[in-house]
Amino acid sequence: MSKITAAITAVAGYVPETKMTNKDLEKIVDTNDEWILTRTGIKERRILKEPNTGASDIAAPAVLDLCKKRGISPEEIDLLIVGTVTADYNFPSCANIVADKIGAKNAWSFDVNAACSGFIYSLSTGAQFIETGKYKKVVVVGVDKMSSILNYEDRTTCIIFGDGGGAVLLEPNEVGNGVVDFQLHSDGSGVQHLHQPAGGSVKPASAETVANNEHAVYQEGKQVFKFAVTNMADVSEEVMLRNGLTGDTLDWLVPHQANLRIIDATANRLNLPPEKVMINIEKYGNTTAGTIPLCLWEWEPKLKKGDNIILSAFGGGFTWGAVYLKWAYNS
Ligand code: UT7
Repeated sequence: MSKITAAITAVAGYVPETKMTNKDLEKIVDTNDEWILTRTGIKERRILKEPNTGASDIAAPAVLDLCKKRGISPEEIDLLIVGTVTADYNFPSCANIVADKIGAKNAWSFDVNAACSGFIYSLSTGAQFIETGKYKKVVVVGVDKMSSILNYEDRTTCIIFGDGGGAVLLEPNEVGNGVVDFQLHSDGSGVQHLHQPAGGSVKPASAETVANNEHAVYQEGKQVFKFAVTNMADVSEEVMLRNGLTGDTLDWLVPHQANLRIIDATANRLNLPPEKVMINIEKYGNTTAGTIPLCLWEWEPKLKKGDNIILSAFGGGFTWGAVYLKWAYNS
């Protein structure tokens, strides 16, 4: 019997309608369009601004569209995994809420907290449940509502993030397409450089934590930048080498969209021309776990069966890794 691999058989995305441009940010914090564009590559980002809406309100329409595209009912989903750091609530999981909103009555569901690596962590996890033969339909989501945890007075951090996300459907494949290999890492000592200081069990919410803006992302940009550039390139190269891939035989790099300079450095290390690199950071900014599925969604019409694709991410935790994927269908 041939080995079962977990193939992506559909992809969908969702971004809120409201745009926040660099010019809009100029009005609320001491920054300017030119600095943001040259230092990060971002022109605008989307913001989920409707009251009482959360990450599940981005994920649910994406998963519903995914089911529609593949012609399946949400009741056919066996397992739903959501990569996010901005779940609707600390508990229950965002995945639980999404499953309920879309009517995935037969799925069990859980969240994966791996910040910007949330999608590749979730994808690698979901693939295991297909490979064992246990499940036939696993949905993997990467989504974040970063605007809910940003301090819009901190110009070094708020300018890079936005809201959005996407979803893929995993199904068994017997000709070797889908998730071929992955390498994931984590290093908790990175917490000091990138974290959300309050709201967890160490520092529960109080009047003081709110007054001090400790519920917003704390990021030492320069430090994180250095780790991201080195680790994203190293891990991508490692996965490529052990699978015999070169800049010529790789069809696409799908890098986490944190900063255009990190993406360019990674692509250069891998000897990839710009046309093989998916980049949409200018439109959406850094949507944390949402960036990679949003790229796959946008590039789906161009992807061909058998394409060799590397997904690569680095983020809070620290967490990082790369996934080697063989695309399973023509649109
Ligand atoms: O998503 C995964 C995890 N996150 C990342 O991978 C993000 C990695 N880091 C970055 O992308 C970059 O470090 C940032 C975009 C966050 C910051 O860019 P940078 O080039 O590292 O800037 P910096 O913090 O070193 O600041 C350089 C200068 C400073 O001025 P002085 O001290 O040189 O006079 C800052 O005060 O730029 C100033 N600056 C700004 N100026 C205008 C910092 N932020 C801004 C701003 N507008 N928004």
